[in-house]
Amino acid sequence: MTKPSVFITRRWPAASEAAMHEAFDVTMNDADEQLSAEAIAEAMLSHDAIAPTVTDPVGEATIESGAGGKCRIIANFGVGVNHIDSKAASRHGMIITNTPGVLTDATADIALTLMLMTMRRAGEGERELRAGEWSGWRPTHLLGQQMTGKTLGIIGMGRIGKATARRAALGFGMKIVFYNRSTVNDCGDFEGEQLPTVEAVCQHADLVSLHCPGGEETRHILGEKALAAMPSHGIVINTARGDVVDEEALADALHGGHIGGAGLDVFQGEPVINPRLMNAPNVVLLPHLGSATTETRNAMGMTVCENLKAFFAGKDVPNPVHS
Ligand code: DGY
Repeated sequence: MTKPSVFITRRWPAASEAAMHEAFDVTMNDADEQLSAEAIAEAMLSHDAIAPTVTDPVGEATIESGAGGKCRIIANFGVGVNHIDSKAASRHGMIITNTPGVLTDATADIALTLMLMTMRRAGEGERELRAGEWSGWRPTHLLGQQMTGKTLGIIGMGRIGKATARRAALGFGMKIVFYNRSTVNDCGDFEGEQLPTVEAVCQHADLVSLHCPGGEETRHILGEKALAAMPSHGIVINTARGDVVDEEALADALHGGHIGGAGLDVFQGEPVINPRLMNAPNVVLLPHLGSATTETRNAMGMTVCENLKAFFAGKDVPNPVHS
């Protein structure tokens, strides 16, 4: 029996690539370089499925150009699907799947990494030491803020927001306040207080960590007004999507000393970074590492594989994305 053909836009860790090769007739972007929208549209014409990542533009124009070909399913390698136009896909009878759940812990871990690095000024310390500028221990050197007992504000109390809050509450005795569009009745084994607005969270938190999906509805959800509500020692953590934060307003707040720092794993124009964030004080910048563990990336690939297997077997897909 002929295997369905699948186009994979980037290289994956070995175990998940092997699973895909076993189940499907795979074409891989072996160069592992970012593809253009045109190349993705071409792949849609000639393959039964495509498996894009967060860096691949699968917008309306791409789908329009790729429609009418073989592609019937866009099986995203990742949970966030704001780079895929779901309305255009469904108009052309293509379904979308994603990989929720398997990257929750890895992403929450990176949020905690950024919190600790910014609160304890670890980025500044590391840069100082490597530059040969450390003159030795002294009681007033690089004093940061203690995590234990502080208040963490979560914007978006979904799976990753909860996993981050849980680590902070149970591991660091932090108080949790949060904003979520719908009511969250149960946080599980930690306490969290839902507040009515993003600004209210910013006002009451020492750290604000973003965990909402990207896209038009959440664009700049943390903007000038919310940043102005934060205390001067307050820290912003973003492991969600670059565009949920107004980067210019954030850079203004950092350079003006209106907040205490930021830890960012995602950016508006990735991989290009706003130069005003690069040279702002107490900022830790990571290259979108949220889900970057071997275990998690393999689990993401395996989840893509399971979604595709179910689809081509005519079954319900485990992780449909609804437009
Ligand atoms: C996702 O899954 O959306 C991540 O940002 C990519 O790892």
